[in-house]
Amino acid sequence: MQAIQIQRTGGPEVLTPAEVEQPQPGPGEVRLQVTAAGVNFIDVYHRTGTYPMPLPLIPGAEGAGVVNAVGPGVETVRVGDRVASTELQGAYAEYAVVPADRVVPIPDGVSDEQAAAVLLQGLTAHYLVHDSYRVQAGDTVVVHAAAGGVGLLLTQLATKLGARVIGTVSALEKEKLARDAGAAEIIGYDSIAEDVRRLTDGEGVPAVYDGVGRSTFDASMASLRLHGVLVLYGQSSGPVPPFDPNRLQHAGSIYLTRPTLRHFVATPEELTRRADHILGMVADGSLSVHIGGRYPLAEAGRAHTDLQSRRTTGKLLLVTD
Ligand SMILES: NC(=O)c1ccc[n+]([C@@H]2O[C@H](COP(=O)([O-])OP(=O)(O)OC[C@H]3O[C@@H](n4cnc5c(N)ncnc54)[C@H](OP(=O)(O)O)[C@@H]3O)[C@@H](O)[C@H]2O)c1
Repeated sequence: MQAIQIQRTGGPEVLTPAEVEQPQPGPGEVRLQVTAAGVNFIDVYHRTGTYPMPLPLIPGAEGAGVVNAVGPGVETVRVGDRVASTELQGAYAEYAVVPADRVVPIPDGVSDEQAAAVLLQGLTAHYLVHDSYRVQAGDTVVVHAAAGGVGLLLTQLATKLGARVIGTVSALEKEKLARDAGAAEIIGYDSIAEDVRRLTDGEGVPAVYDGVGRSTFDASMASLRLHGVLVLYGQSSGPVPPFDPNRLQHAGSIYLTRPTLRHFVATPEELTRRADHILGMVADGSLSVHIGGRYPLAEAGRAHTDLQSRRTTGKLLLVTD
């Protein structure tokens, strides 16, 4: 089968097309014919070695497609089922295996592309607004990179819960997208804390959702009101340097959390509950999925270059056909 393989860590050029053996599903596993794979920042961290992985590696974990083989003992999933997962073992490929209890069915009315585009970032947005900080009607919250993949979904979910979203974006063309997703206020990155104070009568916000990391961390902290929550869920600008806990006190007895998706979909039941909610909203039209770019599998390197260059909006997909 065709796949993208990494032999050594490095820049986007290490994502090279290769002809490799089709994986066989083991006990409790299924094999998908992957029609669309999601491109995520974590794939960049695996490619660069920021999060070390055994090599050679077929990157990617998110994708959707049709089950074309099941391993021994699988009873909940059948050949021909349309499913999606965030835990494929090598999604940048024509076929990938995954444990049967880590896939979710794609409802009628949701395309494979939509499922691959929304699952990982939608599950993330779901736990961020319900668990990392529980958004309440009437809250004002900050969402960084509001026109990005997670950002657009987070903005929609927070808005639906009754929050007023202040979104950051780096370019004018991203502003419209973030506003369409529900952001009430859009600001740039130059004077975040001052702008947030101005927009909240000096009080600050109860929560900042920060997936940008190094370049926004200090401003995020300075944007919080007393007892506010800084939800640091990513680092698209780089990792936050080591940090003195006393800063939490000086910033207003604030809370800092650094969550990751796998701890919020730890059991099949939790995965199913969140996925049903998100895919159900896509099916009934109440959550819109913005696909900002489709790339042939062989051009995975170009997708990574674009994602890292801040040129993209919404979700990037690798498509096989
Ligand atoms: N913890 C979790 O469970 C979890 C799950 C999924 C994703 N994440 C994290 O969430 C973050 C966003 O992921 P995503 O896939 O939705 O990406 P994305 O937001 O679509 O893309 C990254 C965006 O970050 C902004 N950005 C600011 N400074 C940047 C810089 N120096 N380099 C690149 N981008 C910069 C850009 O938006 P502007 O140009 O508007 O600034 C860019 O478009 C990533 O850090 C990812 O690892 C975490």
